[in-house]
Amino acid sequence: MRTTQVTDGVFRLSANVDNILFEGMWPIPNGIAMNSYVVKGEKAAIIDGVCTWEGVPEELFEQLDQMKVKLEDIDYVIINHMEPDHSGWLEPFSALRGDENFEILCTQRAVPLLESFYGITKNIRPVKSGDTLDLGDGRVLAFEEIPNVHWPETMATYDTKSKTLFPCDAFGSFGAVSDDAPYDDQLDEGQIDFFEREASRYFADIVAAFSMPTKKAIDKVESLPVDIIAPGHGIVWRKNPQKIVDDYKRYASYSKGPAKPEVTVIWGSMYGNTEQGVQPVVEGLESEGVKVHVHEVPETDAGFVLQSVWESSGVVLGMPTYEYKMFPAMAAVVDEIGKKKAFNRKAFSFGSYGWSGGAQKELQEIVERNKMKWDFLEPLEFMGKPTEDEKELLKQRGKELAVKVKEWCNA
Ligand code: FEO
Repeated sequence: MRTTQVTDGVFRLSANVDNILFEGMWPIPNGIAMNSYVVKGEKAAIIDGVCTWEGVPEELFEQLDQMKVKLEDIDYVIINHMEPDHSGWLEPFSALRGDENFEILCTQRAVPLLESFYGITKNIRPVKSGDTLDLGDGRVLAFEEIPNVHWPETMATYDTKSKTLFPCDAFGSFGAVSDDAPYDDQLDEGQIDFFEREASRYFADIVAAFSMPTKKAIDKVESLPVDIIAPGHGIVWRKNPQKIVDDYKRYASYSKGPAKPEVTVIWGSMYGNTEQGVQPVVEGLESEGVKVHVHEVPETDAGFVLQSVWESSGVVLGMPTYEYKMFPAMAAVVDEIGKKKAFNRKAFSFGSYGWSGGAQKELQEIVERNKMKWDFLEPLEFMGKPTEDEKELLKQRGKELAVKVKEWCNA
């Protein structure tokens, strides 16, 4: 890959990664771009480092070479966020640099993390909201704390000269980015749609639990005259930065709901009995014209189920009782949905049992533990396979749920 110029004096360095589970757990079939930015006045700052995944720092060092920026030319390293996908570069950077003639700027909350992650205790300048850094040549960087987007120590950096915002994880997305077209003004509608889907899944998997802090961060951003948004992951927004701001506002609003007038059906089945209930429910839902997304667990990874639930106002859970409890794969995914704070969904659950029920009891425990406040229709549990009458009841429940979803979304 190669360095590209974002705007006068601002450069994007980036590497795509696609052979990992992000955060050690989330599949990224379309990869992810790790972005770093060099901002030049009379002095030079690098904003947001990158991870130490195989080959990534080396690729970025090569891109600095292409720019004819030597490591010793970097005067300031700005750490917006300490998660190692952005800060991991500090170790190889410091080792290669071999001196301490540069300053690290970060929030006070990041300072202990610098020591615990990388043993760095010197040349750190803690900054807070409103603080600035003058790079010379009329280029002043301003800092704004945006705690919990995505860790408590996070801040955004704003270049007052080019009106470029560097918000790190905020406004980011999954999806590898071509260095031939890393800017929204170079992408067609289909490519923008691709990054919207990738941003939605990135939000659901990575940012969702912090939807309220994200809303606060967006309020701060909207008080600034921003012409360009240059996030730590994904494309750079030069033509229409408001698009990704509006998308993020919408994603954050889905936490309390309503989300889209759609329903996600999640099901798991040991011997096909619970599975027999899926189609009747889907028929009932579709009879009311709502869009339905069906995911089998554990076949479908939680990362994709989360995106679907995050965007849906209704959820159906089809799971058998397993050893007096919920089907374990379903228990795990519902617990994760709760931890991500998908609140207030209209919901229905059903499933098969053998000698005893128990799945519904555990479901209620998970919902209460995570304070999910889901509004459930009366559940339907059946012994063995569902009878024809029970299938008809499942269809009715699907229809009833679809009506509730539409009423909520239209309220
Ligand atoms: Fe991209 Fe929270 O790190």
